[in-house]
Amino acid sequence: MTVPPLPGVHPAWLPPEAFRAAGSRRVLVLTDPVGDLGGEALPGPVADLGGEALPGPVADLGGEALAATVRAEAAEACERHGGAVVAPGEPFDLVLALSSADALPPEAQAVREPEIGAEGFVLARHDDVTVVLADDPAGLLYGWFEVVRLGEAAFGEARPARAHRPALRRRMLDHWDNIDVHPVMGQVERGYSGGSIFWRDGAARGDLARVRAYARLLAATGVNAVAINNVNVHATEARLLTDRLGEVAAIAAELRPYGIRVHLSVNFASPIVLGGLDSADPLDEGVREWWARTTAHVYETIPDFGGYVVKADSEGQPGPFAYGRSHADGANMLADALAPHGGVVFWRAFVYNHRQDWRDRSTDRARAAHDHFAPLDGQFRDNAIVQVKYGPMDFQTREPVSPVIAAMPGTRLAVELQVTQEYTGQQRHVCYLGPMWSEVLGFRFWGPGERTVADVAAGGGLTAVSNVGDDPYWTGHPLAQANLYAFGRLAWAPDLDPAAILDEWIGLTFPGGPGLVRATLHEMMDGSWETYERYTAPLGVGFMVRPGHHYGPDVDGYEYTPWGTYHFADRDGVGVDRTRATGTGYTGQYPAPWSEVYESLAECPDELLLFFHHVPYEHVLQSGSTVVQHIYDTHFAGAEEAAAMRLAWEKLAGSVDEALYARVKERLDEQVRCAEEWRDQVNTYFLRKSGVPDAHGRPIH
Ligand code: GCU
Repeated sequence: MTVPPLPGVHPAWLPPEAFRAAGSRRVLVLTDPVGDLGGEALPGPVADLGGEALPGPVADLGGEALAATVRAEAAEACERHGGAVVAPGEPFDLVLALSSADALPPEAQAVREPEIGAEGFVLARHDDVTVVLADDPAGLLYGWFEVVRLGEAAFGEARPARAHRPALRRRMLDHWDNIDVHPVMGQVERGYSGGSIFWRDGAARGDLARVRAYARLLAATGVNAVAINNVNVHATEARLLTDRLGEVAAIAAELRPYGIRVHLSVNFASPIVLGGLDSADPLDEGVREWWARTTAHVYETIPDFGGYVVKADSEGQPGPFAYGRSHADGANMLADALAPHGGVVFWRAFVYNHRQDWRDRSTDRARAAHDHFAPLDGQFRDNAIVQVKYGPMDFQTREPVSPVIAAMPGTRLAVELQVTQEYTGQQRHVCYLGPMWSEVLGFRFWGPGERTVADVAAGGGLTAVSNVGDDPYWTGHPLAQANLYAFGRLAWAPDLDPAAILDEWIGLTFPGGPGLVRATLHEMMDGSWETYERYTAPLGVGFMVRPGHHYGPDVDGYEYTPWGTYHFADRDGVGVDRTRATGTGYTGQYPAPWSEVYESLAECPDELLLFFHHVPYEHVLQSGSTVVQHIYDTHFAGAEEAAAMRLAWEKLAGSVDEALYARVKERLDEQVRCAEEWRDQVNTYFLRKSGVPDAHGRPIH
């Protein structure tokens, strides 16, 4: 059994049917001997939890655990679909082999490469045999899931041998899950899918079967790291590092067989709150020693522990500023504690003043990460990864790419996305984010040493806030599963076409479904990010959401608050002047030519105009429309598109599972309602501010 059966839980993109093609073949699995690329064997058993032993495997892990997973996957698929796992020497249709395996058959020998490399695999089909060859068991597992993804196509025409290697080594999901239900944020901060799959009622869940199933889903997309607690580390969660480490080990044991390393968010003030020291100064010897000792203990318990995630000096979290130290000092202290064990620290660059005076037009939150971090380039240890949100603000529907990504060539950077749809419809709205992420990853910083965002992220990784909870569909909105799937696929291969990724997801999730299902889901989802953008905040200006929970429209909700998220609409115009000439100077944080493109009113792309410029309502966009007419037009169009999505879905009644149909329908009803509310509030606001009527005389209130 690869994962225990989970009654009542939707199988997402791994329904049993998805394994039919591979599982109805004769499969040869050659994993002996397991090389050492896959990680070391682990001692067991893990600590007991308050006397209650946790289920799950404990010892004999690392590479061998992964190899065992591949064998179990193949065996289970064959058992279900009538194929067979065959012994060496017997005829086979599919071989999954480690390149170091004894007795490699000639079909596998023929596609051998000098070095496939960690986590990679070669896939080929020749002489009526499909071959997956890998240097390590992780690569074999990813190769297996590639065969599953291809389905019958993996056993069709001949395929020349092709090596598949992950573009990014670290492909990670961050969970903002709390152990204790937070009075405001709940069990999962910004979670829209029920409770946490890790934690319930103040402790790790006794039954972690769901975590194993999650690991399997993630492995099928290529994700290899997970952080299991919120970046806002509250009192109970801080203790995961010390006396509650056994709970972390229990979760790690469920993730490990699918090649996923566990990471912890830690509180910078841990030496004080957990260690009883009177300081957390990163240059204090006692503090450094405390982290070294504590970290060594973590590795004694979880030898393949991934490392730490830290939110410091951000939105009230403690950090090095309290001691007059830099973020490099803080990150390096943890990096030094982790280095002897091969761990890394993801140190977040989301540092800004969340108590700013809205009257002060010179302070610009967008500038903050670059102001704080760019001067520190080159000062971070090799195992300190600076984790940068993709945009300078906060996971908005449309933001320019963060200039920090271009500014630190001497530092490992990870780029952070948000799969959980905090600002993109909170999993009540259909909003397929693959196209947005693809655009971000492909964004190019021109000039000497020219690099895309994906090139930069190759140094540190791609991370994202997960959208998963204990909801029967994992993600609340069943169609939001596609975002989780797309994240993993883009982290593995950033140049994949998001529509093709969606197509894979549809094929796996709705196997054997009529063509209508595929066509309808593309119709609804391919352009859903842009639809969402149309009926919400216009032209890159961002926010306009209800403060606190961030759902639904409230144009001035954040306008007079300390959070630094303003649109500055008045009777004459709207937008934030971030130019060097007359504004906050933020455009100067970009290298040329972007510094010039964004500075120029004529050249700035329409979709970001109000992020960079304050303009009159009658300003003419590159599209030929005026700003205010664009606002009216897009808001009417966006709400209409939401209604069209619902109509499209209604055509699928009877073609998809009834409960899933009903869940999506209920969410679409809410999306249509909410899109109309956005349309009417935004249009009415701008009509009243500007006094400019809609050229088409449509109803505005
Ligand atoms: C957003 C979000 C917070 C979260 C923060 C972060 O501001 O609303 O809930 O803590 O991002 O990324 O740390």
